Amino acid sequence: MKGLILAGGTGSRLRPITHTGPKQLIPVANKPVLEYAVEDLRAAGITDVGVVLGHKGREAIQSFLGDGSAYGVDVTYIVQGNPLGLAHAAGCAREFVGDDDFVMYLGDNLLNRGVGELVEHFESGDYAAAIALQHVDDPGAFGIAEVDEAGDVRRLVEKPDDPPSDLALIGIYVFSPAVFDAIEELEPSWRGELEITDAIQSLLDDGLAISSHVVEGWWKDTGKPGDVLEANRLVLEDLDPADDGTVEDGAETTGRIDMHEGAVVESGAVVRGPVSLGAGVAVEEGAYVGPYTSVGAGSTVASTHVENSVIIGDADIDASGRIVDSLVGSGATITSADEVLPDGQRLVVGENSDIKL
Ligand code: TTP
Repeated sequence: MKGLILAGGTGSRLRPITHTGPKQLIPVANKPVLEYAVEDLRAAGITDVGVVLGHKGREAIQSFLGDGSAYGVDVTYIVQGNPLGLAHAAGCAREFVGDDDFVMYLGDNLLNRGVGELVEHFESGDYAAAIALQHVDDPGAFGIAEVDEAGDVRRLVEKPDDPPSDLALIGIYVFSPAVFDAIEELEPSWRGELEITDAIQSLLDDGLAISSHVVEGWWKDTGKPGDVLEANRLVLEDLDPADDGTVEDGAETTGRIDMHEGAVVESGAVVRGPVSLGAGVAVEEGAYVGPYTSVGAGSTVASTHVENSVIIGDADIDASGRIVDSLVGSGATITSADEVLPDGQRLVVGENSDIKL
């Protein structure tokens, strides 16, 4: 069994963060989303991992993962170029996959319980594919599977008006190499992409069996800013915290605090977990870092209240106000202009930013 992580794409819904880096490297609890996918594959015993790259963010992903040895896997890079769809991305990996079966993992997805159970389902019979499903409240917004009592898939429907079930496809699949012939026959959908649901439906149309597995733990697609915050919340909730930083006398800390090397909570600062403080982060006197916040490496938080937020890293935050439900890009500076006239907000805002004042 091989692994295939899709790390191309446009990331348009995460602009401006994705103007300067791929979304798969956005940290959740101070670990890039992509690293969770690599860990899940390795935990399922899969060490031969292909990573599909687009044009944007190629170098950043390659320099992060390298040859994979630091993460216990052997990485092969596959360049897709333009993001022509999930099935197109998979099709680019035909040579890498060869005659093996493979797990396809969307590189911006996070799974609480890993891929082991899905792989077991696939291997329990003579299946051409296995799909991971989850119950959703709004099936009209997803690709939906109709399954029989044994969990075998009968048909797939994309964003149905009249949903046959509430079981949505999530971004994890297992395929036999039979999928590659199906992909070659595909025509682009109305949105101009080769759709993986069409490839799976074509396997069904050819009479091949497809198994499904309803994922029990949480699953999160980190495609939008609110999803990154939600994923951060879910991961912090379960996190086994590191204890490599310093809490000075006179600091007030409660709850689980994940502290990386060189992180410091200074005297007069308040941190209420669950919180993750990256390497070298300083929470200075008068600052409050509240629950479900991750502060990325090299950042300083002074005299500011930050809560339910992800600070990507190297940020300098020294403002009198409250920052909540926010995603702050790398190297950002947020300060108060209380003493400066004329009175007003002073902003240098990236293209496609979203700011609520
Ligand atoms: P999506 O989130 O569906 O697409 P996107 O990355 O283009 O984002 P947006 O819609 O905000 O512009 O992609 C899911 C995952 O699959 C993500 O990790 C990117 C990857 N991907 C590819 O590698 N190649 C592709 O052609 C597409 C569409 C996605």
